[in-house]
Amino acid sequence: MKTLVVYTSQTGFTKRYAKWLSDEMKADMYDLKEVQKKDKSFYSEYEIIVYAGWAMASKVVKANWFLKKAAGWKDKKLAIICVGGCPGDAPECEAMMKTVLTEEQNSYIKAFYCQGGFNYDKMNTASKLAMKMFIGSLKKKPDEKSQTMAEMITKGYDISDVKYIQPVVDYLRGENV
Ligand SMILES: Cc1cc2nc3c(=O)[nH]c(=O)nc-3n(C[C@H](O)[C@H](O)[C@H](O)COP(=O)(O)O)c2cc1C
Repeated sequence: MKTLVVYTSQTGFTKRYAKWLSDEMKADMYDLKEVQKKDKSFYSEYEIIVYAGWAMASKVVKANWFLKKAAGWKDKKLAIICVGGCPGDAPECEAMMKTVLTEEQNSYIKAFYCQGGFNYDKMNTASKLAMKMFIGSLKKKPDEKSQTMAEMITKGYDISDVKYIQPVVDYLRGENV
């Protein structure tokens, strides 16, 4: 089935997942900036459309672009992937994932989480500043978990893995749905 993967990525983790998924699905893959101005006919040739965006302040970056369009694509198979810095089994991650789609959107789109990481070298100034403030707030907390987290984020880390793409592939191919 003809598949389109659109992504938004600042430091590369989401692009990596978009590539892993596109290779597996033999999909066409585009940065959102490349397809934003395309008209309806561009999307009409695809039976499966996936949007992958990174997590910022518990929201999927540019998700609204996809969700708005998806309302008119109910005849297609649709998925949204959130790539964030927190481990997939962290409670804050599970809480975030519950807010990605409304109940109505849940009936025709499936949301997935893939863990990414932190890469300071590739972050823009605004992101670096936001993370500095976040690290500062973590350091003020008394618990050990917050201290470890602050240290990890400061150093940067990569917890991405191709295996996190498998549930998406299964869903798109109609297995284990
Ligand atoms: C300003 C900012 C806010 C972030 N907020 C979250 C968040 O709420 N939840 C999360 O899991 N990760 C959060 N992250 C981490 C990113 O989602 C993570 O680094 C992701 O892998 C970036 O993907 P990219 O490499 O495709 O840009 C945040 C990062 C930045 C810079």
